[in-house]
Amino acid sequence: MTTAVGEPMIRFRAVTKTYGGGQRAVDDLTMDIDRGRITVFVGPSGCGKTTSLRMINRMVEQTSGTITVDGQDVAAQPAAQLRRSMGYVMQSAGLMPHRTVLDNIATVPRLNGVDRRAARSRASELLETVGLDPALAKRYPAQLSGGQQQRVGVARALAADPPVLLMDEPFSAVDPVVRDELQAELLRLQRELAKTIVFVTHDIDEATILGDKVAVFAVGGRLAQFATPEEILRAPANDFVASFVGRDRGFRHLSFTEPSGLTVHPVDPTVLSAATGDVAPGWRLVVDDDGRPIGWLGPDQRPTGDRFTRADLIPGGSLYRKGHSLRAALDASLSSPSGIGVAVDESGVVRGILRPAEVVEVIERDRAGLQARVASGEPAVRG
Ligand SMILES: Nc1ncnc2c1ncn2[C@@H]1O[C@H](COP(=O)(O)OP(=O)(O)O)[C@@H](O)[C@H]1O
Ligand SMILES: [Mg+2]
Repeated sequence: MTTAVGEPMIRFRAVTKTYGGGQRAVDDLTMDIDRGRITVFVGPSGCGKTTSLRMINRMVEQTSGTITVDGQDVAAQPAAQLRRSMGYVMQSAGLMPHRTVLDNIATVPRLNGVDRRAARSRASELLETVGLDPALAKRYPAQLSGGQQQRVGVARALAADPPVLLMDEPFSAVDPVVRDELQAELLRLQRELAKTIVFVTHDIDEATILGDKVAVFAVGGRLAQFATPEEILRAPANDFVASFVGRDRGFRHLSFTEPSGLTVHPVDPTVLSAATGDVAPGWRLVVDDDGRPIGWLGPDQRPTGDRFTRADLIPGGSLYRKGHSLRAALDASLSSPSGIGVAVDESGVVRGILRPAEVVEVIERDRAGLQARVASGEPAVRG
């Protein structure tokens, strides 16, 4: 028996967990987790995120309350079978050191009775799915970087094509650049796979980037707020959530707003060694032969040789693309050495420039509009 498509995939009802007679690790948790979406559990250390996650596949048994997955009470299913029916990824990829990458990925399908050959061929497909070179198949986990190991961990969790994926701080141990890549990769994968993903992190930025919904847990295993990332940043339910999401929440909230009415001023950028195209007093935006920005020449800057070369250029800031958020527009302006943001089209060719004061004006207008909608009783959150 399965429930209808629109029904939540996972339901917690008054779930409590107490380890060995101590304090509550999870306190009266009731929530519905959407099918085919990413739900993030976020909160400080020790607030019951891992415990809540593990109760879904019975790696941990609840003390009281009910959890259903796809309409079925988990307590009524054999724990080992339940565990194998869901993908699980943890912080240290948890790979078996004496097995090759390919055999690690093939583990669960093999346990489910898939023959060795079919399991391996599926495993090598999955390597590509998670963005790894199939040539890594014969390596052992210790011969991979941390980021590669996490990708293998994700491939292994996907191997049996489970509808539910449980991920416990899977990207916490890798460096920030690799973490950004892994997050982008997960979002790309999810657009294709549409799994029900429950993702644990202590990082509010990661939560708002990945989550369709975010559950903020407070100390004592209590659910402090469960809402869209936009709503959590715009309207934290209480002081705990407000302080947890931090002082930058206003800035982060801009990530959810697409600018309307932002002016992109046409410019006439210069190719290297030409000398006009001023955009900010004295600054010249330099593009390559295809019109893609490659850097800036500052006011009063003189060539090191007899003419300007690439080596003279001051690196540019982030680039703004149509459809990006107000946060991206503001960042393009603020990260540019000239103080002027650069807007590019889909192929990276310069469309024009953004003036930071005008970006701020759009932010102000947007906020005034939001307040007016709230005052008139319209929903503040669009879409
Ligand atoms: N196996 C265990 N035995 C006893 N206490 C535990 C066990 N696992 C977790 N706890 C306690 O339960 C609380 C919640 O832990 P956990 O779910 O791991 O939190 P989080 O994942 O949010 O850091 C903490 O106080 C932790 O010390
Ligand atoms: Mg944890």
